[in-house]
Amino acid sequence: MSETQSIRWPRNDYSRVPNSVYHDPDLYELEQRRIFEGPVWMYLGLDAEIPNPGDFRTAWLGTNPVVYNRDAEGTVHAFVNLCAHRGAIVRRELCGNAQDHVCVYHQWCYDPTGALVGVPFARGIAGKGGVSKEFRREDHALRKLRVENFRGILFASFSDETVPLTEYLGPVITAHLTRLMHGKVRIIGYQRQKMRGNWKAYAENTRDQYHGSLLHKFLGTFFTKTTTLGGLHMDPRHRHSLVYSTPAKTFDAPLATKADLVHNVDSFADERVLRFIPEFGADYEYGNAICSLFPNAVFQQIRNNLATRQIRPKGTDSLELLWTIFGFEDDDEELRKHRLMQMNLGGPAGFVASEDGEAIELVHKATKDRRDTVSLLEMGGTGPLTEFAPTRMNELALRGFWSYYSELMGTEPPNAIR
Ligand code: FES
Ligand SMILES: [Fe+2]
Repeated sequence: MSETQSIRWPRNDYSRVPNSVYHDPDLYELEQRRIFEGPVWMYLGLDAEIPNPGDFRTAWLGTNPVVYNRDAEGTVHAFVNLCAHRGAIVRRELCGNAQDHVCVYHQWCYDPTGALVGVPFARGIAGKGGVSKEFRREDHALRKLRVENFRGILFASFSDETVPLTEYLGPVITAHLTRLMHGKVRIIGYQRQKMRGNWKAYAENTRDQYHGSLLHKFLGTFFTKTTTLGGLHMDPRHRHSLVYSTPAKTFDAPLATKADLVHNVDSFADERVLRFIPEFGADYEYGNAICSLFPNAVFQQIRNNLATRQIRPKGTDSLELLWTIFGFEDDDEELRKHRLMQMNLGGPAGFVASEDGEAIELVHKATKDRRDTVSLLEMGGTGPLTEFAPTRMNELALRGFWSYYSELMGTEPPNAIR
């Protein structure tokens, strides 16, 4: 696809998706510039991951390797982890603590803002060699990103055009994230997962409530049946989604009996995996809430399991997820272990989420050589999008994703809904 061509959307409401969008390498390249380097806020990491001056972590935003770190004054900076000299990865570790960042190849040295502060033998040796007279270190800083912190969540952007972060997230999402991040965050674990599919199919999957109790047999059998109440909220631009379910009686603590919570109780051995310890306030209704942020993040609350997922595209055919599992400083040991144990629900090898990777791979395999085919998104209706749906049987947030995607990519159909 050239930059002037459009995706051929069969309908202006995104209720039909050409399956070529998951496979086209030119489209993938364009996404890097127009989305991941475009006017969006990307999820970078959690502030609690780098609590001390000098702490750093590495991550990926789209195809850009990045470092985020805290300087001596406590300010967080982020920059592209690609050496200005010959393009080597500067920081090879996942995390650490350092006052500066030295590239292993020729030892060029960068400060926490990404500024180039040292070039070995810049003046040569004994008057011979070295860089040219015109060389100025300030011309060769690492590419910087803007960083914002919302409730301990770090967001980054390459663009100066990005709207303010809270406006980007919208009121429903900011309210939810505020409730979710209700204490001083403590990181309690990481997991990583690879999927052989396209990053957009994963972004759709976490916005897709329809599959929840159908694909995930554990859910349908023991916990949230297809008839369990739930619904969807979106921001006004339909970039992000908050999908939730409200299983009956799941907020009585301590649980009176296993049967209050579990369907098919006779075949369910241990109710702890579904136990909910109240922590969000009496009026919090969600048994599970999956909050997907455009373009690269998911915030999950599955019972007491809290985690972020960073979506990292790795070509049209592959993606990586980084799961960061967290609790709060004032959790007791029992709650900390409970949160970790419940990663067995929504984690990469969990009773619930392990099927998602399989479903994405099934789609990818079948459509790879049939790019002329089209997917269907009609659950919850067609036509204009709403910000709320009082049912789990909907695919509205997937259409919202494509609507904003197309706006950024410049591939909207005539009279596109937004
Ligand atoms: S590539 Fe980094 S110093 Fe040469
Ligand atoms: Fe799923």
